[in-house]
Amino acid sequence: MKKMLPKMLLLTSLVLSMSTSAFAADDKKKKPAVMSGASATMLANTCAGCHGFNGVSKGPATPSIAGFSAEYLTELLKAYKSGDAASTIMGRIAKGYSDEELAQVAEIYSKKKFVNAPDQKFDEKLAKKGKKLHNKYCEKCHADGGTAADDDSGLLAGQWTPYLQATLADFHAGTREMPKKMKKKVKKLLKKEGEDGIKALLSYYASQK
Ligand code: HEC
Ligand code: HEC
Repeated sequence: MKKMLPKMLLLTSLVLSMSTSAFAADDKKKKPAVMSGASATMLANTCAGCHGFNGVSKGPATPSIAGFSAEYLTELLKAYKSGDAASTIMGRIAKGYSDEELAQVAEIYSKKKFVNAPDQKFDEKLAKKGKKLHNKYCEKCHADGGTAADDDSGLLAGQWTPYLQATLADFHAGTREMPKKMKKKVKKLLKKEGEDGIKALLSYYASQK
């Protein structure tokens, strides 16, 4: 992690300077009311360095963002921007964009195809238990085993485990706000199953191919 940090910072400043020049180019064209498709695509390309070509991340701490609903991506990007959702990097990145631009970038990634993280390790037995726990505590909102984008709750199946784990920790610490009803279910889960319940769920999501 220590070794990666300077590289990540470098990437961030590279991305920031790239998006600044994109704005500059737009300014010269006397600011169109609606950004042209080409500019929106250019903005979206600045995400690829970290989130991978087509929004499919090489992981493990950077999530894939392809195939989520545009609504979900837009809301989360705005929450990063305002600081309502904790982040290491995304807060600084999202601040470089207007809400309108975030919505346009979200639209682009929502149309790409989510691809499960490849070859993640998981415990077969735990994954079986995790499936049951998911159906009991999570399926209502994260439909079809956490693969449905149109419920606007985020994709869980096949997402990088370290990212899911970090996100659940943020929710638990309150640095990203958990939806009230989800909080109730997670509390119930933790009371009955403890941390092992979370481990089982993570195994289940990692097991989905
Ligand atoms: C320098 C690397 C980097 C760049 C560039 C970057 N991201 Fe991220 N992104 C991350 C990391 C790391 C996370 C995990 C949250 C955090 O710690 O910041 C993340 C999280 C996200 C998430 C949350 C996904 C989820 O499932 O919860 C979304 C959405 C997102 N990024 C969208 C974007 C978009 C759109 C762009 C381009 C405008 C972008 N990112 C550019 C590194 C990056
Ligand atoms: C009542 C509905 C509801 C239930 C039940 C629920 N969730 Fe959620 N979940 C949501 C919503 C809505 C979001 C999006 C929150 C946001 O925008 O920050 C979310 C987000 C998440 C995220 C973040 C995804 C991402 O891409 O960043 C994770 C991880 C998650 N839920 C896990 C779970 C698990 C595990 C359970 C079961 C123990 C569960 N949720 C139960 C509604 C629910």
